[in-house]
Amino acid sequence: MPKWIRGSEVRTTDLLIDALFIDRWSPRAMSGEELTHEELMTLFEAARWAPSSYNAQPWKFFYATRRSEHWPAFFRLMVEFNQSWTKNAAALVVVTSRTVFEHNGKPAQTHSFDAGSAFMSLALQGWIKGLVVHAMQGFDYNMARSTLNLPEEFQVEAMIAIGKPGDPSVLDDATRGRETPSQRKSLAEIVHEGPLLDA
Ligand SMILES: Cc1cc2nc3c(=O)[nH]c(=O)nc-3n(C[C@H](O)[C@H](O)[C@H](O)COP(=O)(O)O)c2cc1C
Repeated sequence: MPKWIRGSEVRTTDLLIDALFIDRWSPRAMSGEELTHEELMTLFEAARWAPSSYNAQPWKFFYATRRSEHWPAFFRLMVEFNQSWTKNAAALVVVTSRTVFEHNGKPAQTHSFDAGSAFMSLALQGWIKGLVVHAMQGFDYNMARSTLNLPEEFQVEAMIAIGKPGDPSVLDDATRGRETPSQRKSLAEIVHEGPLLDA
């Protein structure tokens, strides 16, 4: 097992928060080892308990494990850069969400927000279990829809690569150079008391 860098080794917060929030990050180096079915399902179990508007739970996760017949179709969706490092993932996931409520067919304004919450629960559970969980936007959304035979009322949100951590030497030089926890905007940049002043 390679050295598992914790975010708190390179990240500092202005205020005291639980280490989990800064320890979690999105590595790209994975070992190519498989996960057991239970290891993978445990992450979806965490996602299942995320909050959502009306408790509608609009998320639906589609997955392919690396040895399964579905892997090539999922792998093909990604841009070349993401393929270059996810080739060592144990599972690829496409996150989708239902854009209209099941109970009345009306637009579910927060379906993407809810799916994002579920992703974060999955990511934190993965971190706690010592797994790489890395979200991706770099894939073909239309191809994902047709590959999954996704009904019209669902929206493709993102993909996720999941795997056992690997040695950074498995990455190409440029990607290895980025293999470290990133920083964040300041609180002052993202939090505003009251409305913005008129321009
Ligand atoms: C929705 C979403 C899409 C992302 N898309 C990609 C991607 O296509 N390729 C990639 O290498 N990283 C991708 N990332 C990873 C982000 O770059 C990363 O989460 C961000 O830099 C913050 O770093 P951290 O997760 O290590 O804290 C994505 C993350 C999210 C949440």
